[in-house]
Amino acid sequence: MSELPVQPFLLITDLDNTLVGLDTALDELNQKLDQHRQKYGTRLIYSTGRSPTLYRELEEEKGLLKPDVLILSVGTEIYYQGQDAIDTGWAERLSQGWNQAEVRAVGSHFADLVPQPETEQRPYKVSYFLSEAAAKEVIPRFDKALRDRGIDAQLIYSGGQDLDILPRHANKGNAMGFIREQLGIGSEHTIACGDSGNDLSMFQARDERGIIVGNARPELLEWHYLNPNPNRYLAKNHCAAGILEGLQHFGFL
Ligand code: GLC
Ligand code: MG
Repeated sequence: MSELPVQPFLLITDLDNTLVGLDTALDELNQKLDQHRQKYGTRLIYSTGRSPTLYRELEEEKGLLKPDVLILSVGTEIYYQGQDAIDTGWAERLSQGWNQAEVRAVGSHFADLVPQPETEQRPYKVSYFLSEAAAKEVIPRFDKALRDRGIDAQLIYSGGQDLDILPRHANKGNAMGFIREQLGIGSEHTIACGDSGNDLSMFQARDERGIIVGNARPELLEWHYLNPNPNRYLAKNHCAAGILEGLQHFGFL
């Protein structure tokens, strides 16, 4: 049997509990990705909910590979390698119908919403801690209060504790599509990996390939089981070991 020719691919991965979480598996995957990049021109993108401050902490702690593109703050900030400034074309798209100060003002009326640290409040992202017990009741009420004020926002609940309010068109999935077009890489050569609620937009109504790691949160797993798709693979292994398993499943590695 002849082997298929090796092709470069575009890997877009969430960090916490997806790429990062199992150190030995991360080392193994890093080594393989690094080789693939050098030999075949494969590209690596991180897409995380973290702000620049918290991203740099993790980068240092785990010695992450330098990504070609960095998507921070749940798809609202895009940085290309070697540039400190954000992609202003993307930022402009997000500003319509958005008012960060007003979102925060509306949020202050909900006792269950605990604002996250100031580093995590970004121009196009307002974030709270919210308990799972209160989430079901508070999210629809907050959503309505924002709509009543004419704010075009979306509410994303992740990991059973984080509530992010973002402009309507800002999410990890749309940021992935925007960059993929700029790089000119087809959806069949692109693969997105995630574990929680803020990763769902990378899998929902999209043409790219997807890997959900074995340790994924119920909020993502429930949706996955209800919406099966051969382009999406649920790994048995956790974190980086799940990514490796998925890349092998799709024949990328
Ligand atoms: C990261 C961010 C936090 C966000 C969460 C979920 O932990 O630091 O602000 O709420 O991701 O997207
Ligand atoms: Mg995660």
